[in-house]
Amino acid sequence: MDSVTFTILRYDPASGKEPYYQDYQVQITKPGMMILDGLNQIRWEQDGTLAYRRSCREGVCGSDGINVNGANMLTCVTHIDEVVKNGRLVIQPLPGLPLVKDLVVDLEDFLQKYFTVKPYLITRTPDPDKERLQSPAERKKLDGLYECILCACCSSSCPSYWADPRYLGPSALLNVWRFIEDSRDEGADERLDILDDHHASWRCHTILNCVEACPKGLNPTKAIAGIKKALVNRRF
Ligand code: SF4
Ligand code: F3S
Repeated sequence: MDSVTFTILRYDPASGKEPYYQDYQVQITKPGMMILDGLNQIRWEQDGTLAYRRSCREGVCGSDGINVNGANMLTCVTHIDEVVKNGRLVIQPLPGLPLVKDLVVDLEDFLQKYFTVKPYLITRTPDPDKERLQSPAERKKLDGLYECILCACCSSSCPSYWADPRYLGPSALLNVWRFIEDSRDEGADERLDILDDHHASWRCHTILNCVEACPKGLNPTKAIAGIKKALVNRRF
């Protein structure tokens, strides 16, 4: 494979044109090229007007989520040859989020939903002299929850998120469960008040797209099931 066609959705609100697809030929110059390498090649050597987000190049910052051949992923940690089909990648912005330009989406509402669930430790008891201790077993309960990089790949793959603009979405729900599960946190009740709502945990219909989409291998569906169970236990 000497080259791959990148078919990219282009959109510039300043041009007055509707979104359209544009083909670029990306040369495979080294083994193991990532999708981000291909986008950089286009922007640096062919078309400086192409807009996309990237930062850390290591799957840590979460800024480069996009949709490739129908699946959400991070461009910096996905090899071109893992996802190429018939010599082509069809590249689009994350679905279900407002489009700003080309592959850049507006994450303001997504992040606002994250802040709605109070993603920080809430404590009510007086501060101890040194620190709030946690046993190794208590700390282990946070594995699979604290690693979220807020890339939005999960929420933007969820049909409930597309259909209900007020739905908090799998990312915010996984992140709130991370704090409810934290042995040092004393804010579960006020968080559960927010979550006991048709636009919160009850809007999840266990579609599971979010699990498949998560580039960090996290399981928002399991976190949402934990929330639902906690809400039922609280009622009865
Ligand atoms: Fe991204 Fe996974 Fe966090 Fe969703 S749960 S925002 S897919 S890292
Ligand atoms: Fe959506 Fe995931 Fe629930 S895809 S409906 S949040 S299981």
